[in-house]
Amino acid sequence: MGLAREYGDIAYYKSGGKEMLLLSHPDLVKEVLANHAADVVKGYGLEKAKKLFGEGLLTSEGTLHDRQRRLIQPAFNRVRVAPYGALMAATADRMTARWREGELLDAHAEMIQLTMSIAGFTLFDADLEKEAAEIGQAFVTATELFDTVMSPLAWLWEMLPFGHRRRFQDARARLDDTILRIIRERRAAGTDRGDLLSRMLTSTDGGQGEAVMSDEQLRDECMTLFLAGHETLATAMTWTWYLLARNPAAAARLHAEVDQLKDERTLTAEHLPRLRYAEMVLAEAMRLYPPVWMLDRRVVKPFAIGGYLLPAGTITVMCPYVVQRDERFFPDPESFQPERWTAEGRSSRPRFSYFPFGAGPRQCLGEAFAWMEATLLLGSIARQWHLELKPGHVAGLSPSVTLRPQGPLPMIPRRRRN
Ligand code: HEM
Repeated sequence: MGLAREYGDIAYYKSGGKEMLLLSHPDLVKEVLANHAADVVKGYGLEKAKKLFGEGLLTSEGTLHDRQRRLIQPAFNRVRVAPYGALMAATADRMTARWREGELLDAHAEMIQLTMSIAGFTLFDADLEKEAAEIGQAFVTATELFDTVMSPLAWLWEMLPFGHRRRFQDARARLDDTILRIIRERRAAGTDRGDLLSRMLTSTDGGQGEAVMSDEQLRDECMTLFLAGHETLATAMTWTWYLLARNPAAAARLHAEVDQLKDERTLTAEHLPRLRYAEMVLAEAMRLYPPVWMLDRRVVKPFAIGGYLLPAGTITVMCPYVVQRDERFFPDPESFQPERWTAEGRSSRPRFSYFPFGAGPRQCLGEAFAWMEATLLLGSIARQWHLELKPGHVAGLSPSVTLRPQGPLPMIPRRRRN
């Protein structure tokens, strides 16, 4: 924030010995992520991310990425993901039924558990129940250690033969084995379970004559979807509860909206048109606390932007956190105002002033899935509960791969109805 405010829309700096450019204007974001997408690759941290994701959609490049995106994207359009809505809301209802009135909980841990469970069910359906203990633990360990692998001090840590590194490798190997076994059993059985794995198993590259995915490729995609899909969402939900607790007027308006659904049972995708305010609350929460707070690209083919020629090797950094708190696009930027997200509000701003899901050909594959999941979770939980912040608690920022709150987020559930 300091760099952008002091040095403007293009700011040069060095980090970890590398030369970087921070780009903080929607037009520049558009240039790099969309217009010059073919001239850049994902830069920083990519090799490290491959340790966990393998060559999945998030980390692959070039023709492999293009092919995989073409194969997987159809499973993620709005219509194809809609049937998962009921499962998402039911999982939220089941999990929050354990909450006790007035009993302190860590909202972030609760949201992680919830979105992890939904990611597991939507990807692997019932297989997960069978393998729950084994796969669940391996995913938890791998996710926890991912941050260590991605940390700037990872090179130091990698020199250690035991400890963290061993635990990470064990967890990764266990996950590889379990996922590969599930894939092979599925292929052998040939049944369509309606989950994302079934869809990926049966996807073909229409008319292009390319083979379906290998077992190993599928495994990497499963790992990617699982990790990319749950942590980001949990972070978005966590900040949403935090902001609602601090903004009673917005919470009251949300409660009024969900109370219109009071006689209905578990929510489904069909309720989404009646959860417009919930969606605005989420949009505003992701403006202030974008779960992916920083995107970076390395230039491979020189091009000019903003009057500067960017030579090959330049690392450009674009922070949704910085642009989305810029008063040129969001007046009174630090204040939480879901009302910014009316249709008129949206159309009054430049398109790339808001990019929590990235932009261009690498834009989040799970965006429709994420909006549906977040809206149904917010709606389902807000019907039953109001989460109060522990008095005096102020959440700090822990900007790692995602923008998490620092430490636990202590909140107190208050039951809204029985
Ligand atoms: C609030 C939730 C989410 C946020 C904020 C988010 C954000 C992002 C962002 C910013 C990117 C682009 C990264 C870059 O360009 O460097 C991305 C990519 C991706 N996301 Fe999400 N995401 C979310 C949920 C999900 C979900 C639920 C899934 C899957 C079920 C998912 C799957 C992916 C995949 C596969 C990519 C890589 C796409 C590609 O490179 O072709 N995301 N996400």
